Amino acid sequence: MNKLGIIGGGNMAESLIGGLLASGHKASAVQVSEPDKNRREQLSTKYGINCLDNNSTLAGQSDLLLFAVKPQLLRQVAEPLKQAVQAKHPLIISIAAGIRSSDLDLWLGGGLAIVRVMPNTPALVRAGASGLYANHLVNNLQRDLAESVLRSVGITVWLENEAQMDIVTALSGSGPAYIFRVIEAMEEAATQAGLERETSRLLAIETVLGAARLAIESNDSPAELRFKVTSPGGTTEKGLQQLELGNIEQMFANAINAAMNRSREMGDELGAGT
Ligand SMILES: NC(=O)c1ccc[n+]([C@@H]2O[C@H](COP(=O)([O-])OP(=O)(O)OC[C@H]3O[C@@H](n4cnc5c(N)ncnc54)[C@H](OP(=O)(O)O)[C@@H]3O)[C@@H](O)[C@H]2O)c1
Repeated sequence: MNKLGIIGGGNMAESLIGGLLASGHKASAVQVSEPDKNRREQLSTKYGINCLDNNSTLAGQSDLLLFAVKPQLLRQVAEPLKQAVQAKHPLIISIAAGIRSSDLDLWLGGGLAIVRVMPNTPALVRAGASGLYANHLVNNLQRDLAESVLRSVGITVWLENEAQMDIVTALSGSGPAYIFRVIEAMEEAATQAGLERETSRLLAIETVLGAARLAIESNDSPAELRFKVTSPGGTTEKGLQQLELGNIEQMFANAINAAMNRSREMGDELGAGT
């Protein structure tokens, strides 16, 4: 049985642990290292997993080693693990935003199979969408292993090259926040128009959820679905005209390009000095 070691027992780690156990993985196959004692106790009690306070010990016992610390900390967490990682050569998985696989490989001593992942926060409710990139040392079995970990919290998509990770970061990584903003705006407008705030919020959220489900379950494209609900001269047409006047296409292009450029910049800043 492959042993998964997770470094950093925060929010993303917890959603992965929850997803893995719910999809049939054994608690005995998952370990976490985490500096905060209370957090270790919390995770052990809730999930029945072993939690350690030493990253090197964890690295020495893991076939898959998943880094789930903040990107700013990744270098200082990774470098001291060089010896343990080089002795064991586990499959490395990193969910740290912005950090390129070549930088992580260098910090860990080089020559490692690395899968870099960009998950998103709906992973917390197992409705995540993750982009995965494998470096040239990752074999098919390791690809399947990495995919099975991320599949436990949502859908996965493999990327052909690592540069695409910046686009995924801007689309599905930052995307939930764009949609939260859309929900806020819909709620506010309906409340201003006279609905109770709670009612506006519920209807806005359920509308986004329902539209997303319809889009995923239907054979029609989102554009075809839109045409189908837009009767000539009707209410939807009038509403959509306003979104077009506000140049919704350009607005999202600007948002995605700005997030993508920031993702690239972060890769340069956080990988600097390697
Ligand atoms: N949240 C998202 O939407 C999202 C999306 C995509 C990618 N990610 C990536 O996922 C990673 C984790 O994010 P998160 O939201 O789960 O962060 P988080 O909740 O802050 O979790 C990070 C954990 O790492 C622990 N930690 C700190 N220093 C450590 C060390 N030296 N050794 C071991 N563990 C250490 C922290 O413990 P303390 O709290 O005690 O310091 C904390 O429990 C980040 O790299 C982020 O870029 C997150």
